[in-house]
Amino acid sequence: MAISLASAKTTTSSTSLETPSREIRRLMTLLEASQALSGTLDLRAALHRVLEILGRHHGAIRSTLALLHDDDKEIVVEAAEGAVKSNARARYQVGEGITGRVVQSGKPIVVPRVSREPMFLNRAAERPELSSEELTYISVPIVLNRKTVGAMGVDLRFKADRDYDRTVKFLNIVASMIAQALKVQRLIESERQRLVDENTHLRQELKERYDFSNIIGTSGPMRQVYEQIAQVARTNTTVLLRGESGTGKELIAHAIHYNSPRAKRPFVKVSCAALPESLIESELFGYEKGAFTGAQGAKKGRFELAEGGTLFLDEIGELNVTTQVKLLRVLQEREFERLGGTETIRTNVRLITATNKDMEHAIAGGAFREDLYYRLNVFTIFVPPLRERKPDLLQLADYFLEKFSREHNKNIRRISTPAIDMLVSYHWPGNVRELGNALERAVVVCDGQVIHAHHLPPTLQTAEASGTVTRTTLSEALAAYEKDLIQDALKTTRGVRAKAARLLNTTDRIFNYKVRKYGIDWRRFKI
Ligand SMILES: Nc1ncnc2c1ncn2[C@@H]1O[C@H](COP(=O)(O)OP(=O)(O)OP(=O)(O)O)[C@@H](O)[C@H]1O
Ligand SMILES: [Mg+2]
Repeated sequence: MAISLASAKTTTSSTSLETPSREIRRLMTLLEASQALSGTLDLRAALHRVLEILGRHHGAIRSTLALLHDDDKEIVVEAAEGAVKSNARARYQVGEGITGRVVQSGKPIVVPRVSREPMFLNRAAERPELSSEELTYISVPIVLNRKTVGAMGVDLRFKADRDYDRTVKFLNIVASMIAQALKVQRLIESERQRLVDENTHLRQELKERYDFSNIIGTSGPMRQVYEQIAQVARTNTTVLLRGESGTGKELIAHAIHYNSPRAKRPFVKVSCAALPESLIESELFGYEKGAFTGAQGAKKGRFELAEGGTLFLDEIGELNVTTQVKLLRVLQEREFERLGGTETIRTNVRLITATNKDMEHAIAGGAFREDLYYRLNVFTIFVPPLRERKPDLLQLADYFLEKFSREHNKNIRRISTPAIDMLVSYHWPGNVRELGNALERAVVVCDGQVIHAHHLPPTLQTAEASGTVTRTTLSEALAAYEKDLIQDALKTTRGVRAKAARLLNTTDRIFNYKVRKYGIDWRRFKI
């Protein structure tokens, strides 16, 4: 009969004194087991070693170690040693057999005489020794953070004088050492998994941010830009990006780099406007220790950091004249020295610059060196302002709508027709950046599934821009809102007026009257 430890004491003789050599063997076992478990990160190999040590020092005829798997539903034998039949990983349900019961209860089970245990009957074939000798089976739980996560079972020769209490205590110590090793391994595994997830996420983010296909817009002018990007990306040519603020110059600089043979090397950005004149040189070229007061150590400049990759000099039009001279030399000779340094450093960097300034004007006024300009202006891409590519506007608006809805956890489906009209008639001096900001604001203030005209920022709500919301009286504002709702309903029902009337909970007669009153062309909603 299987007995729990409490009864084991009373039903078995625990009279014999442990011989010193047995104690020493036990200590040896523990020492070797702890070495096996701490010596490797391969847990399965370590578990085999521990079981093998139990066999060698402790006379275990066979031993198995089983762990809970699959959301705690199944127990799988992870390691087995000794006279075991096959290497197949046996499986048990929680509560099934002795292993299943130990895992379920978290308590050890001792079977002094296996031949008398009904639960072993159907597995008698696995223990051929039983025909000639009696066996004792002991299973102890593996407990991790107060939860039973497995069991270790051993077959021992039956000895009438065996002290089950001490044997169980000893096996419990081995089990707790295994639990510690499991804990470490699971921590390592979860940390590894976290790093893998983070890495996948970052790669995805990088790809999304800088992938060519992430530049939205299929208008004629943009297609021309894509062609130029594709042409120049595979070369080492210096590129100048020109265009108004917010047109996507930085996005294009990324696209060139990430589609070039230098893609796996660094992309380094320096904003010439963000750094004070005194700092820009040391930032670009680095400095040696003691080059100036405060230079306590040597520092690499951005040119060195971008080695083999791309250096993006944003707002190049703001670069001061002294630095312009130094930059010109780098472009001509492909070499420079750190500030305060004497060693000449060779550089292999593709340069991309960007500006929204009128460079010709700056040259005429003496603020920008003409010779440098010609070196930068090898391949120029003009990025068109948003107002010159109206077809892109709606695509971009949809893109931002989806992006910000996701970011702000909202379920906004579309933009109402009057709001679209407003977007289209506005002149967008801040270009794509301004459009993105306008849509983010709209998403934040929108409380339904549709962006309406009144969700758009006040700068768009001018008479020229919309003609809908600048009126001051309440009745006019309501009328504008009503018109908006009607157009919206027509859009939803694809121009079916009866359905639209029902959607707004009004009659066909009133609906048609309002459609005529507001001069809404319902046919344009038909598909
Ligand atoms: N075609 C586009 N598709 C998607 N997003 C775009 C596009 N063009 C610009 N953007 C977005 O608009 C914002 C402004 O773009 P970017 O910073 O590249 O402009 P810029 O030309 O460098 O402006 P500035 O001259 O002011 O520095 C960014 O958030 C960018 O992701
Ligand atoms: Mg920029």
